[in-house]
Amino acid sequence: MNKSYLDYFLKIRLPIIIFVALASLTFTFYVSRAERDGVGYAPVQPIPYSHKIHAGQMGIDCQYCHTGASKSRHAMVPPLNTCMNCHSIARKNKPDIIRLTQYFNEGKLMPWKRIHKVPDFAYFNHSVHVNKNIPCQQCHGNIQEMDVVKQAGSWTMNNCISCHRNAPTILASIPGIKKGPENCFACHR
Ligand code: HEC
Ligand code: HEC
Ligand code: HEC
Ligand code: HEC
Ligand code: HEC
Repeated sequence: MNKSYLDYFLKIRLPIIIFVALASLTFTFYVSRAERDGVGYAPVQPIPYSHKIHAGQMGIDCQYCHTGASKSRHAMVPPLNTCMNCHSIARKNKPDIIRLTQYFNEGKLMPWKRIHKVPDFAYFNHSVHVNKNIPCQQCHGNIQEMDVVKQAGSWTMNNCISCHRNAPTILASIPGIKKGPENCFACHR
């Protein structure tokens, strides 16, 4: 490699290579956004628990299992003893219930796959929304009709803010609903 080529490489080729590399990284980042938003994400769960059966047909209240929804930041997925309230008897000879009982007896946690998630740098709190009577379905879709939970909406900043800005219109049927905050520190603490 002679000196003038090296000079050409460092001053002209190299900056172009770096530019292209950075540009494609940025591109990949934006393209992968759809995946990060997770709309339609519906992983197979370790036990084929069905919301359609339990919350739909049987009409069990969402908060019988998701006890955190009106009390804390996280709605929380129920521990297995909530299931065993019924399944120590109901359908106890079915293969999936036998497996469920094994997990319970061994004191193991069920490795449910997490579906909805906002990034750690954003702050979301269930109780402030649920206590304003915003229905779960407004954000999660018709869970009571799903055999397998599927993410219905996306949690981009725009979607949060657009409901906050238009809450009195979007949620007009809920008495006394006010706008949600739009200042950065409400959600980035
Ligand atoms: C009998 C208990 C039970 C009832 C009742 C119940 N759920 Fe669930 N829910 C679960 C379990 C267990 C999971 C985790 C497995 C799964 O995703 O299917 C779950 C998962 C979810 C998730 C996804 C959690 C995640 O990882 O993002 C949402 C959202 C949800 N439930 C909402 C609801 C709503 C809304 C209702 C009422 C219409 C409801 N659930 C009723 C037990 C219950
Ligand atoms: C209030 C009682 C009740 C609770 C709580 C409950 N279940 Fe059920 N579950 C039932 C009944 C009743 C059926 C049978 C429904 C049917 O087939 O019509 C059933 C059916 C099932 C089935 C299908 C079994 C089969 O093969 O026929 C699974 C799997 C299941 N439940 C898992 C769970 C899990 C996991 C939890 C806890 C997150 C749970 N259930 C909580 C009452 C309950
Ligand atoms: C205003 C929108 C909104 C409403 C209303 C809402 N959720 Fe959620 N839910 C979310 C968001 C956003 C996440 C992800 C939260 C995170 O990553 O911390 C989530 C996550 C969850 C999860 C899994 C993780 C966790 O936080 O425990 C469950 C279970 C859940 N929601 C159930 C419910 C139930 C049940 C209701 C109604 C009683 C409800 N949600 C109402 C937006 C909502
Ligand atoms: C209502 C809640 C809310 C408010 C208000 C809000 N944000 Fe966000 N913000 C979020 C959520 C949720 C995310 C993560 C989802 C996403 O990346 O869109 C986020 C993501 C971001 C990101 C990362 C962007 C990316 O592409 O990953 C930046 C930077 C940011 N917010 C800055 C701000 C600034 C600056 C303000 C004030 C002008 C603000 N936010 C107000 C909820 C909010
Ligand atoms: C369906 C409409 C809706 C959606 C979607 C929604 N919010 Fe809200 N949010 C509200 C309303 C309405 C309030 C105001 C409640 C009140 O009157 O204080 C609020 C309040 C808040 C507050 C203030 C809580 C407090 O402690 O005062 C935060 C933080 C917040 N939301 C974060 C979020 C984030 C983050 C998202 C997206 C992941 C989101 N919200 C999505 C309707 C929504």
